[in-house]
Amino acid sequence: SPLTVAIDGPSGSGKSSVSRAVAQRLGLAYLDTGAMYRAATWWCLREGVNLADQEAVAAVVDTMPLTMALDPQSQVIRVDDIVITEAIRESGISLKVSQVATNLEVRAIMKREQQSIIRAERAGGFSQGRGIVAEGRDITTVIAPDANARILLTASEEARLARRATDVHGTADDASVAATREEVVARDARDSTVSQFMQASDGVVTIDSSELTFNQTVDAVLAAIQH
Ligand code: CDP
Repeated sequence: SPLTVAIDGPSGSGKSSVSRAVAQRLGLAYLDTGAMYRAATWWCLREGVNLADQEAVAAVVDTMPLTMALDPQSQVIRVDDIVITEAIRESGISLKVSQVATNLEVRAIMKREQQSIIRAERAGGFSQGRGIVAEGRDITTVIAPDANARILLTASEEARLARRATDVHGTADDASVAATREEVVARDARDSTVSQFMQASDGVVTIDSSELTFNQTVDAVLAAIQH
């Protein structure tokens, strides 16, 4: 029977790479919901919408011609026929995405879209009905509270900053960690007004990856799914 795995966590917890590896191991689709908020932000900026204008933002996001990648091995994201896989990772987007993600109408649109993707993967789709790993900030609580496995992936602030600095700047020296702190800790603080993703709700398994290697974290998540 189809499997839905919900994984939430703050940035730098390793949730994207771990979720992708888990999906690959289990033959499941992989949905990066953060990429959807990033794509929405990119699209609004391109359309010249003022991000403070909540109604205009929601209207533009509602008609965004987004194609999400569901293959864990090939994460190509498109709006219309424009490939935005790399563009949505730029710091200009990271610094603005919370403004779009705290728009409640946008969250309602995303909920509808994400639940429809999950439903499609349980019935067929890329995974041929095996199911999906969906990853983000509100998957265990809002998007898939009835998932077969619900996991909160955390890590100490120190570990998260070091990982993120290495991802973005190629090194975890003092200057890179400082730059990352602004981009990540400040963003988490802005996000926390809508999603309480630092706190596991009832029935959610917490895995702290601070002291774990990548492979150990993947194994811990696989073990949590098997239970
Ligand atoms: O870069 P990082 O992995 O921290 O974040 P992401 O997963 O790419 O998500 C980018 C942004 O999207 C977050 O900072 C949130 O503002 C928003 N987001 C959200 O509100 N809800 C989700 N389920 C996923 C992401």
